[in-house]
Amino acid sequence: KTIASLGDLTGKKVLVRADFNVPLSKDGTKTITDDARIVAALPTINALLDAGAAVIVMAHLGRPKPVGEFTFDENFTLAPVAARLSELLGKPVPLAKDLTGPSAQETVAALQPGEVALLENVRMDPRETSKVDAERQAEAAELAQLADVYVSDGFGVVHRKQASVYDIAQILPAAAGTLVFKEVDSLSKATTDPERPYVVVLGGSKVSDKLGVISNLIEKADRLLIGGGMMFTFLKAQGHEVGTSLLEEDQIETVRSYLARAAERGVEIVLPIDVVVADAFDAPAPAGVVPADAIPADKIGLDIGPASGELFAAKLADAKTIAWNGPMGVFEREEYAGGTRAVMDGLIAAGRNGAFTIVGGGDSAAAVKTLGYDTADFGHISTGGGASLELLEGKTLPGIAVLEG
Ligand code: 3PG
Repeated sequence: KTIASLGDLTGKKVLVRADFNVPLSKDGTKTITDDARIVAALPTINALLDAGAAVIVMAHLGRPKPVGEFTFDENFTLAPVAARLSELLGKPVPLAKDLTGPSAQETVAALQPGEVALLENVRMDPRETSKVDAERQAEAAELAQLADVYVSDGFGVVHRKQASVYDIAQILPAAAGTLVFKEVDSLSKATTDPERPYVVVLGGSKVSDKLGVISNLIEKADRLLIGGGMMFTFLKAQGHEVGTSLLEEDQIETVRSYLARAAERGVEIVLPIDVVVADAFDAPAPAGVVPADAIPADKIGLDIGPASGELFAAKLADAKTIAWNGPMGVFEREEYAGGTRAVMDGLIAAGRNGAFTIVGGGDSAAAVKTLGYDTADFGHISTGGGASLELLEGKTLPGIAVLEG
């Protein structure tokens, strides 16, 4: 259901769930280092303001651990977000000191059409993430008292069955915001009947985070390119030594079974053929490039090598749909950014050839910006980490399903 399905919103109070889980600097100033998620919420907020509504936004930041009842925690306050949202909207955004308590009630009562307020971090209330349905429902019922309708626009959190994402949508008339629509629409180009060849590039450190995705993609994709820290468990599963590189011993057997299943199904799994190695993770410079099947015992692999970059780009060239999740190496350091650059260049080239390209996951989206690429060169850059992965896994997301019901 779209915002339009909510009818005339003039003079109505609209409760919006956004995902403002943004990275903050750790230097004590709590500066927002990437405001993409706040910027991504603006179309919905502005559309509601234009429709004559008063907008109450709720969001989480990090994972506070309150006990018993709502507990304010300075470490997780949304104050930096309220300030940035206010700058972006060009109007004041008062921040309530609680979620459903006296401060929230007062803030909401004073709110006029055309105005925006933010409630304090939903996760300072332990009921938000409770596994007990009645506890979440109790929080949702209090939230519902604050507004007339609910709009779900925190795409990054729609995979969570939480009070402000799931339970609230069963109480108030509910609709998906423009971000949630755009995300689901774009990602379903890969998950539902993708144009082929459908190629997926997976990276990032842990195989264990991506097992569900890999398993599902062996059924759906035509080709899987594997880089990042997780490549070493694949290389080991193929019988190669990986030196001191990141390795998940307990996943080797699973990976072996995936390789066998992919071979049976005719799904091509492409692994790096060379690796950039160093003496240690924090060594000042790389020690060189070695073949992927000959990593010395005393070296750690920190990026796919240049020949692999060329191979991956070639394997992307004929794709019509590409999903990429997870950097190929430690891209935050220029010496190990080559592989991630090669993949991004491959995506862009394929995009110019007509492929629809999707970048998912916080680290990949961050790489696009950190390495100076233009976000407009990609088909879709998702604001969701876990949420976009779970869609690629083929899972039903509670925060989406509840809007469809
Ligand atoms: C994210 O950053 O992926 C989302 O905001 C969800 O956060 P969570 O993993 O703490 O639920």
